Amino acid sequence: MNLKDCHNYNDFRKLAKKKLPSPIFHYIDGGSDDEVTLRRNTEAFNDCDLVPNVLANVGKPDLSTTVFGKKIDLPVFLSPTAMQRLYYHEGDKASARAAEKFGTFYSMSTMANNTIEEIADISNGPKLFQLYVHKDQSITDDLIDRCRVSGFNGMCLTVDTLVAGNRERDHRTGFTTPPKLTLQSLLSFAMRPEWVFNYFTHKKFELANIKNKTTYSKWFLL
Ligand SMILES: Cc1cc2nc3c(=O)[nH]c(=O)nc-3n(C[C@H](O)[C@H](O)[C@H](O)COP(=O)(O)O)c2cc1C
Repeated sequence: MNLKDCHNYNDFRKLAKKKLPSPIFHYIDGGSDDEVTLRRNTEAFNDCDLVPNVLANVGKPDLSTTVFGKKIDLPVFLSPTAMQRLYYHEGDKASARAAEKFGTFYSMSTMANNTIEEIADISNGPKLFQLYVHKDQSITDDLIDRCRVSGFNGMCLTVDTLVAGNRERDHRTGFTTPPKLTLQSLLSFAMRPEWVFNYFTHKKFELANIKNKTTYSKWFLL
């Protein structure tokens, strides 16, 4: 199975499962506390109906819309996701390039593995930065200043992560950041040699924008 076999969300999910060590896949795929909210959020999309406009000339459909004063070509954009270097060895660079190619926003997580400046260098597309309000205000100020200098177009303020979620799948799979080989996860990494090769032969895993500024346990703010 590869990208050309992916025709819907489920196909992409299957492909990700095939390519990623299980702790990484379940980190992306899973949610917190029995995953009740994850299920409800997912099912909510089934309540949306497409309302057909029949006997009308389709012409050239225009899906563009405006977000933060920027016109984008699609009515969807990439929301911030942490630690993309684990999903794919090019990390945020790959998603920033893809967003630019399709004319939509890329968003960078505070916990990205690439720097604000690295992404500004490789993408002229519209960009958002997701910000946690850190206990140490100088960290927050520094991130905002760097985004402004690098031409990011807006900030998403995350206010619902005072503590890390109780992600039960991560307890089961032994997911850690950076990934550590445990007895529990050894087999799942051994079964994904391509991922392991790419992980060790590309840019070192780090929380690129806040390294040396905060410890892992102080990511979550206030
Ligand atoms: C793997 C993963 C990592 C995420 N990391 C972050 C993050 O670092 N910061 C943040 O504000 N939201 C993060 N989110 C939340 C997403 O930005 C988004 O708000 C959420 O997934 C809901 O959108 P969806 O229904 O399209 O998945 C993450 C979501 C996932 C699945």
